[in-house]
Amino acid sequence: MIGEEKMARYLVTGGAGFIGSNFLSLLLNSNYSEVICIDKFNYAGSEVNLHHFRDKPNFTVIKGDICKPEDLAIIWQQPFDYIINFAAESHVDRSIRTPNIFFENNVLGTLNLMNKCLEYPPKLFIQISTDEVYGSIPIPYKADEESPLAPSNPYAASKVSADLAVLSYRKTYNLPAIIVRSVNNFGPRQFPEKLIPKVIVHALEDKKIPVYGDGQAVRTWIYVMDFCKAILAVLDKGEIGEIYNIGSSNEMTNLELVRRIVTHLGKDESLIRFVDDRPGHDLRYALDFSKARKQLNWSEQYPFDLALDNTISWYKCYFEHYATKLATML
Ligand SMILES: NC(=O)c1ccc[n+]([C@@H]2O[C@H](COP(=O)([O-])OP(=O)(O)OC[C@H]3O[C@@H](n4cnc5c(N)ncnc54)[C@H](O)[C@@H]3O)[C@@H](O)[C@H]2O)c1
Repeated sequence: MIGEEKMARYLVTGGAGFIGSNFLSLLLNSNYSEVICIDKFNYAGSEVNLHHFRDKPNFTVIKGDICKPEDLAIIWQQPFDYIINFAAESHVDRSIRTPNIFFENNVLGTLNLMNKCLEYPPKLFIQISTDEVYGSIPIPYKADEESPLAPSNPYAASKVSADLAVLSYRKTYNLPAIIVRSVNNFGPRQFPEKLIPKVIVHALEDKKIPVYGDGQAVRTWIYVMDFCKAILAVLDKGEIGEIYNIGSSNEMTNLELVRRIVTHLGKDESLIRFVDDRPGHDLRYALDFSKARKQLNWSEQYPFDLALDNTISWYKCYFEHYATKLATML
């Protein structure tokens, strides 16, 4: 059991970003192991995301790039027991503008980590992946772990490429790896270029809220803490060599989602502005996650509206931080 293994060493990559930092807060609360985070602190990675647990004695943060073997050499002089690879360039729109960066970063970074694992074998390497690898799924179907990989944008293709690299290292070198593919996460600490925090931040400022196309693209939303608990369940009960889809019951169109947030904030729907659709925009992602339910004994716990409340409270508290960061990026 993860909580009982007190002397384990964990490496969490991309821990200053959205999901990684939420995972770190959970991990550091649930055991006393040594936890090391490496993050290159791109625009989405932030010290603010770490400050709730920055001073824990069993926690170290290193500013470094997993694409640079010299940075990995600094932290990796003995084996890590568990490696959880969150580090990635993660925004689809950016990947459409600068695809090379996504392939270089997301694939090479994963390869470098796995090469280090061959040198210093871990108990488990977890690759964090996405529902986007399966491409658009027509109603009423859902993608299970055996479904074909059909990425539609450079971000999704870079994640497929990294997943395939992991599977090849599993087969060729017997790397003890598991791949976890999640639906869209939301919650505190997400950079407000992603849909939910973007809508919240725009609505709080009474600015127009851009919605792609006719808003009919369908996504499934999971509260980040539910996803992080699924990763703990993978550490605890996951079988090496397996892929686990992680999902939720919160499937809705983007327009429905935006309307819910606007109503929640007591704002007017006239703030919504339809803009040109994203090129290659997948109409629907949908995951069958019955395998995780059965094998990991995991299920989502947070009702959507409660999770949305928590998320909105966070962005109200940290509004200045994000507004300043966004302003300096324009
Ligand atoms: N957010 C979602 O809804 C979602 C859904 C499914 C899967 N994922 C996957 O989960 C992971 C985390 O996503 P997120 O939303 O937290 O992203 P994020 O952009 O908020 O955070 C990514 C973090 O990784 C760091 N990073 C990027 N490249 C790095 C490198 N070469 N070396 C070191 N650090 C690096 C960044 O500085 C940042 O702190 C990603 O792999 C993403 O593909 C995200």
